[in-house]
Amino acid sequence: MSTSTLPKLTPITQPWIKDITGELNLPNKWIEQYGSPINLLNLESFKLNFKRFDQVFNQYGVKNSVFFARKANKCKSFVWASKEYGFGVDTASLNEIKECIEVGLDPERITVTAAVKNRALLSYVVEHQIPVVLDNLDECELLNQILGETDKSLKVGFRISGFSHNGEKLYSRFGFDIDQIVSFISENLSESGKFKHFKYHGLHFHLNGYSTEQRADALSQTIDVADILKKSGFETSFIDIGGGILMNYLTSSEEWETFHQALRKSVKSENPEITFQKDLLGMVNVDGELKGEPKVYPYFNGLNQEKFIGKILGSDKGGMSLADHLIVRDIEIRLEPGRSLLDQCGITIAKVAFRKKDSHGRLLVGLEMNRTQMFSSSADFLLDPIFLPQNTIENSPCEVYFVGAYCLEQELLLKRKISLNQHPQVGDLVCFVNTAGYMMHFYESEAHLFDLAKNLVVEKSDSWKVTLDGDFELSKEVGEKGAF
Ligand SMILES: Cc1ncc(COP(=O)(O)O)c(C=O)c1O
Repeated sequence: MSTSTLPKLTPITQPWIKDITGELNLPNKWIEQYGSPINLLNLESFKLNFKRFDQVFNQYGVKNSVFFARKANKCKSFVWASKEYGFGVDTASLNEIKECIEVGLDPERITVTAAVKNRALLSYVVEHQIPVVLDNLDECELLNQILGETDKSLKVGFRISGFSHNGEKLYSRFGFDIDQIVSFISENLSESGKFKHFKYHGLHFHLNGYSTEQRADALSQTIDVADILKKSGFETSFIDIGGGILMNYLTSSEEWETFHQALRKSVKSENPEITFQKDLLGMVNVDGELKGEPKVYPYFNGLNQEKFIGKILGSDKGGMSLADHLIVRDIEIRLEPGRSLLDQCGITIAKVAFRKKDSHGRLLVGLEMNRTQMFSSSADFLLDPIFLPQNTIENSPCEVYFVGAYCLEQELLLKRKISLNQHPQVGDLVCFVNTAGYMMHFYESEAHLFDLAKNLVVEKSDSWKVTLDGDFELSKEVGEKGAF
């Protein structure tokens, strides 16, 4: 029995995760075959997340399209699944776009929001007639050149920013300023305009952070822009509200609160550390007074996924909901969820390589993985991992830090001190839950020439089996042709 007073952060785990972590021979076999760590991906959860969005849109009766923001996970299987389940993909690079075409996605189901669009990328989208979301004048000039050279036209949307919220202009480095977009489109996309080969299609924004109020304001102001454009003959067929839809990782709001209180208290010299060297996860200690908030994802939140979207759609604009405003104008709403479509879609499992004490007596558990294989912009990944010991050892609870394979003092896989019900042994496994969104791939690197983690799609027929991400699509084609 653990006597630890460390605050717990219990993750939500879907049955497939419980199944796989409950049958140790499965992860043992896969780690033996593919090395440590492995990323396991479940496409069934991906489909369920999409259905939740689809249902809320249908409930409001608004025309909609969902595009999976692939930057959140690099696996091609999710692109395949987006096609199979009937939604699209939001792309951030030429290679991402090419893979969509390879998988057979309809070009209309691809959106291109890449932050840098060079000649190769724009030539490819023109060749394949993939609608593109434009961000700045130089991009427009380059696209226009390519359209001129190829004597083609292309459907375009425009990213806009600078929305007003609570009397202030929201900052963004992306997009055209909302105050200038109407004149830009009216002047340049008219029949005699400089960009007359652009076929105006719609408007796009993506906001930093997770505010439904800001998104509702931005959507309302974008509808106003659409109305003014209409007067000059430019019909807006879609408004894309980007991503940033919250998802919830944790089972308990109390645990979340308790953790934050304990983190604040840990700053006092008489209190023990609950994070490595009393790391404040982004807060600043000014002479004993804590300033700011932890710079972490809101891992517990009640307003997530379809509820988050419902809140925006139901927001009032002049006595009518935003959803109804879209309906009366026949404007399709588009969404580019990354993280929230990947909720419960992936886990990362690694093997214990060593145990040791650091020079201050902390128990460190070295895993066969590195920090970039489970890393996001959040100051820490605040979910308790699932510890999978090979054998039971009675009465040996302990508190540990998990460290990785890069040669840095700060190579901690989690900054939080974690309590385990027994002392880990070499060869035991540790499972990090819900890592598909950003954690697996966004910062992944190959320093020290370590192999990248293998990405394995798990499926259950009689028993659980895995297929390498790259081979997954192929295995489906073979299966469909009846070769099994
Ligand atoms: C343009 C755009 N769309 C969608 C997303 C996906 O955001 P999220 O994963 O938070 O849903 C991002 C994330 O950076 C983005 O930049």
